[in-house]
Amino acid sequence: MTVCEAPGKVYLFGEHAVVYGEPAVPAAIERRATVAAEPRDDDHVRVEAQDLSLDGFTVEYAGGTGDRPDVDVPRPLVEAAMGYVDAAVEQARDAADAPDAGFDITVESDIPLGAGLGSSAAVVVAGIDAATRALGEPLGRRELAERAYRAEYEVQDGQASRADTFCSTMGGAVRVEGDDCDPIDAPNLPFVVGFDGGAGDTGELVAGVRELRAEHEFAADTVESIGDLVRTGEDLLAEADADADPEPALLAELGELMDFNHGLLAALGVSARSLDAMVWAARDAGAHGAKLTGAGGGGCVVALDESDATETALSFTQGCEEAFRAELATEGVRVVDS
Ligand code: MEV
Repeated sequence: MTVCEAPGKVYLFGEHAVVYGEPAVPAAIERRATVAAEPRDDDHVRVEAQDLSLDGFTVEYAGGTGDRPDVDVPRPLVEAAMGYVDAAVEQARDAADAPDAGFDITVESDIPLGAGLGSSAAVVVAGIDAATRALGEPLGRRELAERAYRAEYEVQDGQASRADTFCSTMGGAVRVEGDDCDPIDAPNLPFVVGFDGGAGDTGELVAGVRELRAEHEFAADTVESIGDLVRTGEDLLAEADADADPEPALLAELGELMDFNHGLLAALGVSARSLDAMVWAARDAGAHGAKLTGAGGGGCVVALDESDATETALSFTQGCEEAFRAELATEGVRVVDS
């Protein structure tokens, strides 16, 4: 049995615009998806998914990926979760040149599904790593990230950037611009996450921005403005001492850019009442800045605050189901058992 775990992430800046070749800076956080893979004697794949938190439900599921669990949760989320496992197995078979390899797979995750914290990327990255290692064909990190991207791209019908999968593979903060992906130095930023208990449909949200951008020049300009903002944020991070606690001035400047980024994402139609409420609660509590993270439509916001005020304020905000401090995950995917 080979067991790997990969972190989720928050977007400091740049979601959605990254799909159109603008840069983005996601940062991995210490919430992980764990995938165990055990090769079988036949070519079947049996998946057991535990603790896949879906809007407050827990899916207890055992069966081949052809069957679907009988649970009262939004079907597309369950379909999507199983689709990612299927795609990861296909990538592992291809990488190990073992097209008929069968597996018993177990998935556990403490990253809420579809909530903007990179749950699907973490499942795919940990899944490919565990399955290829179980076949005795471990991959280098760059190839693993590339294959995880291809798996996500396939499941999301071509509406995926490399940001989530690269960040989950490498850990820390990364910079993604088109096909160029690199880890970057960043200080340990005081992330606070608020979760509304819901999820957005990434495919639909990305398609909505695509339409808006095709229809209106000002929407295309908005996407470009997000790119400009990300470049400004990158420069700030590059000048900072990654080994020291972040200076208050740096937090203030990054926070201002996060506020701006949230406004531009809202203009592109991907925020939600619950996300706006959490962003404002964080700002009122004195956070340096706050924005939605990920595809939007529901799910999570991320704020910067080294004090407890934002976490406390979020926990009392109507519509916020969970608020927590998210530590930067400096280590990306890792083996926990082999
Ligand atoms: C989803 O986590 C982030 C988006 O930018 C899509 C992507 O980058 O694949 C909306």
